[in-house]
Amino acid sequence: MLAHAGNIANFWRQINYYAIIKPMKVKVSLDKAYRLLNFGPTVLVTSQIGGKPNIMPVAWNMPVDFDPPKVAICIGDQSYTFHIVRKTGEFVINIPPASIMKKVFKCGRTSGKKVDKFKKFGLTAIPASKVKPPMIKECIGHLECKVIDESMAEKYNIFIVQVVACSAEKGALQKFFRVDKGRFKTLHHLTGNLFFAPGKVIKA
Ligand SMILES: Cc1cc2nc3c(=O)[nH]c(=O)nc-3n(C[C@H](O)[C@H](O)[C@H](O)COP(=O)(O)O)c2cc1C
Repeated sequence: MLAHAGNIANFWRQINYYAIIKPMKVKVSLDKAYRLLNFGPTVLVTSQIGGKPNIMPVAWNMPVDFDPPKVAICIGDQSYTFHIVRKTGEFVINIPPASIMKKVFKCGRTSGKKVDKFKKFGLTAIPASKVKPPMIKECIGHLECKVIDESMAEKYNIFIVQVVACSAEKGALQKFFRVDKGRFKTLHHLTGNLFFAPGKVIKA
């Protein structure tokens, strides 16, 4: 009787898997796999060399430690920023609000090698406290960073940095970053020119 019950349970498990679960999943080509993880805030990295600051949008970034705070960030070697960071070892991670999406996008379609992106896209440089590159006034948060490990830079374009100073617009950081308040909504890159801004905060 028990064996029979087990068989029935197995039967239904299989039916569930093949009839319900499997058909609901579709294969994602491996070159698109990153799009399932791509929703952290897109940031603007400011770096500086020879007194000239530059701006680069970066979607691929993540915290890796609390204390001292460390971040892993992928700055492609196709970019001018990569070469500045290799030489100077410091930059600022600025958090842009969703309201400046068009400027962010344009910064990512232009190289700062020959263009002053602050001027071209109407962004304002303000001094940082612990590093030479400036912060972007129009942004709502700033993490001043120094590179502490570039052993993965050549192979994976990944830099591990330590955050040496941090600031945010008044009211933006309470118990959590108030992405639910209109002017503090962050910007999240999906693909191409598609972004989203967070909706409401939900509690588990
Ligand atoms: C929304 C957005 C997100 C981007 N994220 C990244 C990223 O995570 N890593 C990267 O290497 N390039 C990324 N890019 C591309 C660079 O921002 C782009 O190559 C930029 O022009 C480099 O600027 P630079 O040459 O002045 O340093 C992104 C571009 C956009 C528009």
